[in-house]
Amino acid sequence: MTPAPDQPFRALTGMRDVLAPESARRRALVARFAATVELAGYREVQPPLVEELGVFLRMGEATDVVTKEMYDFEDRDGTRVALRPELTAGVVRAFVQHHPTTPWKVWYSGTNFRHERPQRGRYRSFEQVGVEVLGVDDPDLDVEVIALAWASFAAIGLRQVRLLVNSLGEHEDRDRYNEAVRDHFLARRSELGEASLATLKRNPLRLLDSKRPEDAGAVAAAPRIEDFLSPAAAAHFERVQDGLRALEVPFEVAPRLVRGLDYYRRTTFEFVADALDAAQNAIGGGGRYDGLAEDLGGSPTDGIGFALGVDRMLLACDAEAVFPAQDEGVDVFVVDLTGGAAARDLTHELRSAGVAADRRFGGGSMKSQMKSADRSGARFALLVGEDELAAGQVTVRDLRGDAPQSGVARDEVVAEIHRRLGT
Ligand code: HAM
Repeated sequence: MTPAPDQPFRALTGMRDVLAPESARRRALVARFAATVELAGYREVQPPLVEELGVFLRMGEATDVVTKEMYDFEDRDGTRVALRPELTAGVVRAFVQHHPTTPWKVWYSGTNFRHERPQRGRYRSFEQVGVEVLGVDDPDLDVEVIALAWASFAAIGLRQVRLLVNSLGEHEDRDRYNEAVRDHFLARRSELGEASLATLKRNPLRLLDSKRPEDAGAVAAAPRIEDFLSPAAAAHFERVQDGLRALEVPFEVAPRLVRGLDYYRRTTFEFVADALDAAQNAIGGGGRYDGLAEDLGGSPTDGIGFALGVDRMLLACDAEAVFPAQDEGVDVFVVDLTGGAAARDLTHELRSAGVAADRRFGGGSMKSQMKSADRSGARFALLVGEDELAAGQVTVRDLRGDAPQSGVARDEVVAEIHRRLGT
């Protein structure tokens, strides 16, 4: 047997345990999100956590997510696989595999893995909620998708959020723009630091969101995407902006917004939480990825979606003091001073009748059991002592109000609790 470690095991760097009440808060956030998008006809999809590595390489072989952050490994059968760093690629792979009727409107929630340098709001294991739609080219869909993200923030009470939108143009526009940006930075390479020169080589567009002060001059003077948009892409982007105005979703056009993944075409967007520090204030993002289905072996299909970072949304909620964690606890705590059988049977009966009930195991004095009752958050304590047992009764004590305690017949106690809880 392997010996016990010198130090107790801990979760891996960048990975966290989510304990109550935070775990309930996350579940509530996902439920609010689901309710918001299901109102618009989206249905849940649950793709696997692991895919063939090739599925994710389409996110861009020059992106950090693919080159530096992927948890990839050889499976036992020799297949090269990876833990998903996001859900879009897997969802589009599922679309290509199952040929659902279009438009295919889906939502998801789940954990993703990126081997990033951990800091507050940036983890190696993190959760997203999001939507994807396949099979629609209409710019009004872009508006629907963006408005749904906006509504999801409203659903949890987040207010200090800004929406940045941009268009990267069609495939060819983006390529021409990429070249112009590369030429621009090449001409000014003497101004760039070593890290920026490396980025320039790999992925020139990424330099546009360089935060390095020495790059600022060259970034400010870089060519602007709007000069490279085809008439069709420009008209699409206009219609998206008109739609956002019509739905009163405030936005800023951000011509340097390029996003970290390579599959984007035309509309791209990002949500920034002003209550968070700049390093992790992107609480969500998305856009069109019209070529992705084809890249994954399917027929050409338009696609658009977004993902919101659950961890960061909750940090933003903390910063805005909204959507607090609530430790609900149980309704009833049974205090049994007669050996435990009464607590065993009564909690079972209460739970079968839909009442949240708990008890203490191993007996203990009245005082220590009442302490457990208080800690449980229960509204009522049900006391069973020798006297109650002999009389076929239970004493009901209100732990929050100051009503006097009262004896209730054992057979009627479940109905009495329902009555007092108003359930
Ligand atoms: P993304 O911008 O890579 O896009 O991630 C979306 C959001 O996930 C980010 O804005 C952030 O809130 C959160 N996030 C990303 N990495 C981390 C991390 N290491 N720790 C905590 N939160 C993180 C995508 O993933 C695309 N799949 C979005 C999309 C969907 N595009 C089209 N459809």
